[in-house]
Amino acid sequence: YNLSGKKQDLKGVSILITAGPTRELIDPVRYITNRSSGKMGYAIARVAKERGADVTLISGPTNLPRPEGIKFIQIETALEMFTKVKENFASNNIVIKAAAVADYRPKNIANQKIKKSDGDMHIELERNPDILAFLGEQKGDKILVGFAAETNDLTQNALTKLKKKNLDLIVANDVSQEGAGFNYDTNKVTIFSATKETNKLPLMSKLDVADKIIDEAVTLLKKE
Ligand code: CTP
Ligand code: CA
Repeated sequence: YNLSGKKQDLKGVSILITAGPTRELIDPVRYITNRSSGKMGYAIARVAKERGADVTLISGPTNLPRPEGIKFIQIETALEMFTKVKENFASNNIVIKAAAVADYRPKNIANQKIKKSDGDMHIELERNPDILAFLGEQKGDKILVGFAAETNDLTQNALTKLKKKNLDLIVANDVSQEGAGFNYDTNKVTIFSATKETNKLPLMSKLDVADKIIDEAVTLLKKE
């Protein structure tokens, strides 16, 4: 993917992107998280910026360098991501939710490091808000793009999420495949649209996947 050779075709378009995992604290030294590297979301942010869009990236903890020339917001927990997404939602035309948001958080965060005892221990978890479903309820004229990382029943799971969250597009990837998903620089995805189109892409770099996702979102935006 040639980042610098891109035409500036997204001038005047504002894109909000979320990326990376969230981190849900258990006590001052422990947390629950997931295997998201943030690479897919950061690739989307870089490509969107190269194409001339105004980009806001809300990111959980990653090891990736901060992309330049964009509005960057660092968060840790799902609740923090939710707050920042709500603050930034209104001013954007397209929202792409590549983040792997933790579905649950520990119900209580201990003030002090939890000490072990002889028996087993249990952590009570409570549901985090579904950020994307919330956005879907007040979508207005925005283009909403979600992700679905699945290990099984890819098409059915993705289409259920597309509908349930009122999305325009969902990017589905099978994370059990070699070369796709967590931590790879490549990805193999299928993009499903609310208008029943299916775009099954071959294995390609995450930057190329990002380009395709943006193409589809912008096409929908221009149709409106
Ligand atoms: N998502 C979100 N807020 C959450 C959970 C998920 O915004 N609390 C978003 C993700 O960013 C992603 C999409 O919803 O774009 C799908 O996430 P995924 O984890 O695949 O689906 P869930 O709806 O959480 O269902 P499940 O994990 O049970 O498969
Ligand atoms: Ca989930």
